[in-house]
Amino acid sequence: MKALCWHGKNDIRYDTVPDPSIEDARDAIVKVSSCAICGSDLHLYDHFIPGMEHGDVMGHEFMGEVVEVGADTKRLKVGDRVVVPFTIVCGECEQCRRGNFSVCERSNRNKALGDKAFGHATAGLFGYTHLTGGYAGGQAEYVRVPFADTTHVKVPDSLSDEQVLFLGDIFPTGWQAVVQCDIQPTDTVAIWGAGPVGQFCVRSAVLLGARQVVCIDRVPERLSMAAAGGAITIDFDEESVLERLEELTHGKGPEKCIDAVGLEAHATRSLDSMYDRAKQAVMLETDRPHVLREMIYVCRPAGVLSVPGVYGGLVDKLPFGALMNKGLTLRTGQTHVRRWTDDLLRRIEEGQIDPSFVITHTVGLEQGPDMYRVFRDKLDNCIKVVLKP
Ligand SMILES: NC(=O)c1ccc[n+]([C@@H]2O[C@H](COP(=O)([O-])OP(=O)(O)OC[C@H]3O[C@@H](n4cnc5c(N)ncnc54)[C@H](O)[C@@H]3O)[C@@H](O)[C@H]2O)c1
Ligand SMILES: [Zn+2]
Ligand SMILES: [Zn+2]
Repeated sequence: MKALCWHGKNDIRYDTVPDPSIEDARDAIVKVSSCAICGSDLHLYDHFIPGMEHGDVMGHEFMGEVVEVGADTKRLKVGDRVVVPFTIVCGECEQCRRGNFSVCERSNRNKALGDKAFGHATAGLFGYTHLTGGYAGGQAEYVRVPFADTTHVKVPDSLSDEQVLFLGDIFPTGWQAVVQCDIQPTDTVAIWGAGPVGQFCVRSAVLLGARQVVCIDRVPERLSMAAAGGAITIDFDEESVLERLEELTHGKGPEKCIDAVGLEAHATRSLDSMYDRAKQAVMLETDRPHVLREMIYVCRPAGVLSVPGVYGGLVDKLPFGALMNKGLTLRTGQTHVRRWTDDLLRRIEEGQIDPSFVITHTVGLEQGPDMYRVFRDKLDNCIKVVLKP
C-alpha cells in the first residue's frame, strides 16, 4: 500500500510499504477514507521529538471503513464507518476506567522506553514516536487499529468525512483544553496560537460560555478565522501581547490562559526567545517555552493555565516563582479523546458546530510530502490539510 513515511528532518516520502495485517485478536484493519496533518506531525517533521525511525508511517488523525476484524473484536464489524482517536486505549486498565485515556497503562508496547523517558509511559499513539509505541499511522491507505473495540468512534453516514474527521484529535483537543479551564461566565480566556487546535479552543470557549475570548497569533488568515469564531485577536508581531491583554481585562489579566502553540513557539523582539533559540541550537534545551512564560506572567492570580500544546523534553527559565506565588493551576495532557467524543459527535449532529470550517486544503495522499511544507510554512493561506488516500 501507499503511505507517508518519515525519513528524517523535513523528509516525508510517499512510499510503498507492506499492507498491515491483524497481529492480535483485538485488532481491526481500517481502510482510510480521509486523514489529516496535525501540528504534532510538524514537531516530528522538524525533528524536535525524539524516538522516530526511518520508514515510520505518519499520521494520527484519520477515519475510514473497517475491512477486517480480529477474532476477539466484538463491537466492530466489517463495513462499520469509524473515526479513530489518536490515543490507543485498552479500555480496561485503571487509567482507562477513570477516563484518563491518553495515559492508558497497556496500549504502549514500548512501555519500558516511555517509563525511562518520562517516569511513567503514556498510552500508545498512532504515527508518533517509538516512546509512544511506534505504531504505524493513518496517513496511509490502510491502518492496523490495536484494541479496536475501544479505539474507535462510530459515525453516522449522514455526516461527511470532513464534519467528523477531527473528532479523532483537534476538536476534542481544543475542547479538553477549554474544559480544563473550568470556564465561568465572567471569564476572559486568552488562547495563544490560531492554528487548527487554537481554532477549536476558540469555538469551544465560545460554546462553553466564556465572557471574552482572545486569540493570539501573527498569521493574518488564522487570526481572521479566529475572529469569525468569536475571538478578539492580537497579532504578536504588531502589538504587545501583555499590554493588550492587560487592557482587555482592565489591568487584571485573563483568568484562563491556553497554550495551543507548544514547543516551537516563535517570538518577536523578545530576549527570552533569542536565548531559547541559542540553547536549542546547541541542544542544551529541547523546547522553546516562550508562551508558557508569557502565560504565567499575564494570568490573573488564582487563574488556570491549560497546555494542549505539545512539549517533548526540557524547558529553561520558567518563572516558577510567579506560578507558585500567584496560585496558578497548571493543567496539561495529550487528549483523552474518547472521554469527549460522544458529546462532541452529538453537538455536530445538532448543528452546534461544523468542524469542517477549519479545512483549507483537500488533496490526494501523494501530495502529502509537499503539504507538510505548505502547512508548516503557512504557504497558500494553509490552515488545515485533509488528505485522501
Ligand atoms: N494535547 C494534544 O493531545 C494535542 C493534540 C493535537 C495537537 N497538539 C499540539 O497543539 C499545538 C498546536 O497544534 P496546531 O495543529 O494548531 O499547530 P500549528 O503549528 O498549525 O499552530 C501553531 C500556531 O501557533 C502560532 N504561534 C507560534 N508562536 C506563537 C506565539 N509566541 N504566540 C502565539 N501564537 C504563536 C503559529 O503561528 C501557528 O499558527 C502543537 O504543539 C500540537 O503538537 C496537542
Ligand atoms: Zn495531533
Ligand atoms: Zn487502558
